[in-house]
Amino acid sequence: MDAADMGQDLSSVLIPEEDLQAKIKELAGKIDADYAGKDLLIVGVLKGAVMVMADLARALHVAVHMDWMAVSSYGAGTKSSGVVRVLKDLDTDIAGRHVLVVEDIIDSGLTLSWLMNNLKSRNPASVEICTLLRKPDAVKVPIDVRYVGFDIPNEFVIGFGLDYDERYRNLPFIGTLAPHVYGGE
Ligand code: XMP
Ligand code: MG
Repeated sequence: MDAADMGQDLSSVLIPEEDLQAKIKELAGKIDADYAGKDLLIVGVLKGAVMVMADLARALHVAVHMDWMAVSSYGAGTKSSGVVRVLKDLDTDIAGRHVLVVEDIIDSGLTLSWLMNNLKSRNPASVEICTLLRKPDAVKVPIDVRYVGFDIPNEFVIGFGLDYDERYRNLPFIGTLAPHVYGGE
């Protein structure tokens, strides 16, 4: 899928494909340096982190194990409530392991804050976060994030794993939607 396939639904390309790929390589370089000689488990948070995981994992030189979690923030509306339900847990026992959580986006931070407490309670050797995107103006809880791709404005974004109503995940770039898609004008 690309911009032309979206017709009038795309408002703007916020981060082009080339910039995403360059940033992922840069993040992989830092992770390689930090985890040299260590056994690293990268944990992707479904579904949004699928693209970041796939590209990051292939850009890394350190050997990794890969696992996945699916969580859902439930509550009324589209905003994160901070009350999190685990839909799919890890297959891996992370006690004593070096864990890197890979996320598509940190918005309020409520989901990841809950997830970090949950993972830390399992006694890993270390647990850090790598997120492709972060919205600094939306943050409600401070989170210590080791690797950040891009800080972006507080707008709803789609593409590269991120969806609107399960659509647009397979765009190779990050974009914003035209207001008419939301039911605006
Ligand atoms: P929080 O607010 O808990 O965000 O940090 C949790 C999850 O909400 C989703 N999210 C978005 N999804 N475009 C999306 O497609 C966005 O702009 C956006 N902001 C938040 C995402 O799944 C994130 O992990
Ligand atoms: Mg997510």
